[in-house]
Amino acid sequence: MHKRTTLRSLAVAGLALAMPLVLSAGAFAQAKPFKIGFILPMTGQSASTGRQIEAATKLYMAQNGSTVAGRKIELIIKDDGGVADATRRIAQELVVNDKVDVLAGFGLTPTALATAPIATQSKTPMVVTAAATSMITEQSPYIVRTSFTLPQVAVSIAEWAAKNNIKKVVTLVTDFGPGIDAEKFFKSQFQLNGGQVVAEIRSPLRSPDFAPFLQKVRDANPDALFVFLPSGQGAAFMKQFAERGLDKSNIRLIATGDVTDDDQLNDMGDVALGVVNSHHYSAAHPSAMNKKFVADFQAANKFRPNFMGVAGYDGMRVIYKALEATKGQGGGDALLAAMKGQIFESPRGPVLIDAQTRDIVQDIYIRKVERKDGQLWNIEFDVQKAVKDPGKLK
Ligand code: PHB
Repeated sequence: MHKRTTLRSLAVAGLALAMPLVLSAGAFAQAKPFKIGFILPMTGQSASTGRQIEAATKLYMAQNGSTVAGRKIELIIKDDGGVADATRRIAQELVVNDKVDVLAGFGLTPTALATAPIATQSKTPMVVTAAATSMITEQSPYIVRTSFTLPQVAVSIAEWAAKNNIKKVVTLVTDFGPGIDAEKFFKSQFQLNGGQVVAEIRSPLRSPDFAPFLQKVRDANPDALFVFLPSGQGAAFMKQFAERGLDKSNIRLIATGDVTDDDQLNDMGDVALGVVNSHHYSAAHPSAMNKKFVADFQAANKFRPNFMGVAGYDGMRVIYKALEATKGQGGGDALLAAMKGQIFESPRGPVLIDAQTRDIVQDIYIRKVERKDGQLWNIEFDVQKAVKDPGKLK
């Protein structure tokens, strides 16, 4: 008797235990983790891009929580070494095996281009938080970009140069997508304003030696040298520029902010002082939001955020808000629709994800490298508001 009661009560208890499991099956499906697969160069010559974006995504999650609309956010970070073949393989694995809800990252243009067909085929939103060749967003309707484009920034510095008594320029860019965009858009805007580009030099992407190019610049003796190099190469360039005494010459150095990158700027020394450049983000941007962003970022990482970091941070914002808008349901097309048209304040300033182009619209600043409190900063002194990618204004 005693035993039977025990068994029956056990059976009842078992049923009671089983019930919530049955009832919560739907809720369980709803609550499966939401996976964001970041593919980044964590090693190789663009490793600073991966380190910056990883740190920024983690900061965003620390500040905003790791659950959105009932879904636990699972961040997966994979290293492609900046090599497109690796990116393609990793993207396939993330989509097929891990079943990620969103692909993100892409430190270099070729890695973004390699992934675009996979995003299209699998209808997976692909948030580009680094690569900056204009045409990337046209390679898949599932691409959204939170970084910038080279035409956006090259046009502004060309205009500044023409208005500041610079008449003859040599351009030096890295020989791949963003460099070619920079060269082309700098030249057309500079010529439009009466300037002349007297030589166009391209350096290789991998392990460049700038010495022979700098000799050519010296020989051409322009009023200014305009430079674009991808994030991570600025310090090596500056060192060679100074070693050849070009910082003491009459040739002025102007650049996109990729060269006076906040990640390396502080180690560049006096050669960087006075370099005028254009970009969308400075760690010295004087907004309250940016001050907090920089302070929190530095407290967590012991290094300064750069433009790659801020684009990773904003990429997370775009993904979180899209998931929220779908009430946690997700789904490629629904997420993408909710990413388009997002308008918000970034640490860089106000931004918009253009609903037509899926590219970012943002303020572009003219900055000068200055020393403040013993550190080097890109100090903003002029701004062009709400710049759309000129590469798409055909
Ligand atoms: C790119 O590969 O598109 C790229 C990389 C680094 C930059 C800018 C653009 O700083």
